[in-house]
Amino acid sequence: MALRPILIIPEPRLRQLCAPVTGIDAETRKLVSDMFETMYDAPGIGLAAPQVGVLRRVVTIDLSREDEPRQPLAMINPEIIAASEERSIYSEGCLSIPDYYEEVERPAEVTVRYMTLEGKTVEQHVSGLLSTCVQHEIDHLNGVLFIDYLSKLKRDRVNKKFAKAARREDVG
Ligand code: NI
Repeated sequence: MALRPILIIPEPRLRQLCAPVTGIDAETRKLVSDMFETMYDAPGIGLAAPQVGVLRRVVTIDLSREDEPRQPLAMINPEIIAASEERSIYSEGCLSIPDYYEEVERPAEVTVRYMTLEGKTVEQHVSGLLSTCVQHEIDHLNGVLFIDYLSKLKRDRVNKKFAKAARREDVG
């Protein structure tokens, strides 16, 4: 396992459409294990492959608390196949937009279809925080970030702040 650097906005790879994984090989397994290590280290509850610069449809999630046993969930090629009309609001953050949190409204419950690392296709009905997390991570695979759901005013403000920080880094 190895830690991989997490990309921060305005990194263009965070805005790309990711390609499906065609076969689960050693490289995919290595990617998933690196993503878990990187996510736990951050720490975060979800991570998508483009956040570590890999434009593949892979996400890792673990909602367990620090004092609980880990519950790693890896999803290959996940897709939302049903969404509830009922909506819920969570304060979201993102490892690619550090220290920024805003409330986002999304479908309260979704059914997600994905492949496990063992190559099995599963359909899982999720609600609560897991539903929000799954939707947030799948958005990443389509180049969508949670700030895209905010008002233009808020989005412009956060984009400007991170663009400025990136320029500062360029000069030293
Ligand atoms: Ni994120």
